[in-house]
Amino acid sequence: MTWTRRHILSLADFTPDEYDTVLQTAASFREVLSRRTKRVPTLQGQVVANLFFESSTRTRSSFELAAKRLSADTLNFAPGTSSLTKGETILDTAKTYLAMGTDMMVIRHREAGVPAAIAAEMDRLKSHVGILNAGDGQHEHPSQALLDLFTICTLLDPEHPRLSLLAGKKIAIVGDILHSRVARSNIWSLTASGAEVHLAGPPTLVPKLFAHYVNPHYDALTSPQSSAELPPATLLPRKLFLHWQLEPALQDADFVMTLRLQRERMTQHLLPSLREYHQQFGITSDRLKLCKPDVKVLHPGPVNRGVEISSDLMDDPKISLIAQQVTSGVAVRMALLYLMGSGRG
Ligand code: NCD
Repeated sequence: MTWTRRHILSLADFTPDEYDTVLQTAASFREVLSRRTKRVPTLQGQVVANLFFESSTRTRSSFELAAKRLSADTLNFAPGTSSLTKGETILDTAKTYLAMGTDMMVIRHREAGVPAAIAAEMDRLKSHVGILNAGDGQHEHPSQALLDLFTICTLLDPEHPRLSLLAGKKIAIVGDILHSRVARSNIWSLTASGAEVHLAGPPTLVPKLFAHYVNPHYDALTSPQSSAELPPATLLPRKLFLHWQLEPALQDADFVMTLRLQRERMTQHLLPSLREYHQQFGITSDRLKLCKPDVKVLHPGPVNRGVEISSDLMDDPKISLIAQQVTSGVAVRMALLYLMGSGRG
């Protein structure tokens, strides 16, 4: 397919063709990354600015490395030492980078909608700058969900990762769904593949509202079968299920995605204690016995060891895909920068 998307802000309207193009392009960059010389001249002369207004280890380094592997010039921005501290607005900061000839901006911000607002301003100015959302508040984190998808699909078919490999698979997403932009993006991509996505966590962190997230017309919520399980949206095209207990989500699951408890975003007392959370929803080897025998566990990181996942499981290379997720991240972000470069013109 011809890539036409200039900005990558959300996965809500991603098409199956777009997912497959990202997966196939990432597979070819993964091959580049396995060579002795891990660099291609694809974005030579182009400028990629990383505007991270919020903390990050892996996403920021991964985008920087991806841009460098594509031979782009990279600019890194640190809010604490920038003119933001002198009162400059975010839009003016973005316009400053535009005036320097930046071609793509990778943006993370603690408020939802900031990357979209900058993209709208860039379009209004008739610039060809592409904006990539690297995590905006609780809204979305598209590149993380795409690297999760790539990690899962390459496990199923290393040579030809594609969306359809996930059809009929069961994927549990466990933990702090409420505050998670990673969950929101993953819900779009994984349900688009035809997989069954099961959200599990305490009711305070898995609100009923999520049943409407991908199926806005889903209105069967008025009569839950039990207090622990809401009725599934089985008649709807996107299969999203909600659970307030862990067991039904883990039962026969092919993949379990655990999420960090985002304590920095919790404004109310949503949990009794971390110990109790671990007892009820922590992923341990014992609990995984409910899943398919070859189940794999993912976590976007950073991990609270011993809270959302037990420490031994996190380090078990037979089950944990955490390191592969980080490795996949570079190839997937190279693919996104490359495709956006081709869609800007
Ligand atoms: C996530 C994020 O920042 O949204 N991490 C990441 O990008 N790898 C998840 C988190 O912070 O828990």
